[in-house]
Amino acid sequence: MTFPQTRMRRLRRTGALRALVRETSLEPGDLILPLFFDPALKEPEAVASMPGVQRYPVAEAANLARLAVAARLGGVILFGQAREKGPDAPDALAPDAAVPEALRRMRAAAPDLLLIADVCLCAYTDHGHCGVAGDGEIENDPSLELLARTAVNYARAGADVVAPSDMMDGRVAAIRRALDEASLGDRAILSYAAKYASAFYGPFRDAQASAPRFGDRRSYQMDPANSREAMREIALDLEEGADLVLIKPALAYLDVVREARGRFDAPLGAYNVSGEYSALKAAALMGWIDERAAVLETLQSMRRAGADFILTYHALDAAAWLA
Ligand code: PBG
Repeated sequence: MTFPQTRMRRLRRTGALRALVRETSLEPGDLILPLFFDPALKEPEAVASMPGVQRYPVAEAANLARLAVAARLGGVILFGQAREKGPDAPDALAPDAAVPEALRRMRAAAPDLLLIADVCLCAYTDHGHCGVAGDGEIENDPSLELLARTAVNYARAGADVVAPSDMMDGRVAAIRRALDEASLGDRAILSYAAKYASAFYGPFRDAQASAPRFGDRRSYQMDPANSREAMREIALDLEEGADLVLIKPALAYLDVVREARGRFDAPLGAYNVSGEYSALKAAALMGWIDERAAVLETLQSMRRAGADFILTYHALDAAAWLA
């Protein structure tokens, strides 16, 4: 049936009709807020390349947890700065480092808040890579034990979910085994299964002081040209015991999100990364774009592509707009 029998505008005539036929939803509970904790700070400090984002002292953790609950967010994901960096990422394993300390305070302040801890070594190693370095290369297998011990450190401190973002082969299995051995078999793994070597992480590395000191991350993060490879990565991580999987970045990879949604039944997330955030923020600050409309449209696109949940620095703003 074609025009005039079919008139697509009939279902767009009123807000009630538009709401009835809306195909995807976007709610605060779909959003996970990334938080940066820095043990060197006494006061929150703005991240210059991420307007509206701050690095927090651990003392702010309880307040932030209450804020996340009040905004009805789906949860938070914690990133930490090291007190001291070293080749073996000493502060990633320390029970009194920023992340475990913040986890304990957040858990005490908000017993029901979902706490996710990012598991990676790049903010903890002196060379800024996500694994152990030997001879100018990032060594896969020696990195696994460190990553697994880091995950156990965070799970012990109260993380419901540990989220390895390093892209070493076999890390999900190593973490699953270590959690089970530590009687933490009830904690979930959110694997950054398909993480691309992206230009959109720039502002994050600024926030986290985690840029590599030599080379780049292309020997472990994925080539942006590939999507079939992403499906292999996801399948492997699920076989190794991942409970939830993540695709990162989100906006330039919505086709990958869509393809993964069609192939896998596991819960699927998209990481709306720092560069995506800052690009929109900058345009909004220049007055070139309507921030609220553009942010909500962007987040909706990730849900439409098939993401169950979204990690985004816009989480608190978006939750307020959606409320
Ligand atoms: C650490 C990590 C990165 C991000 C999350 N975890 C950066 C990187 O791989 O260099 C990026 C997040 C963002 O850009 O918002 N491996």
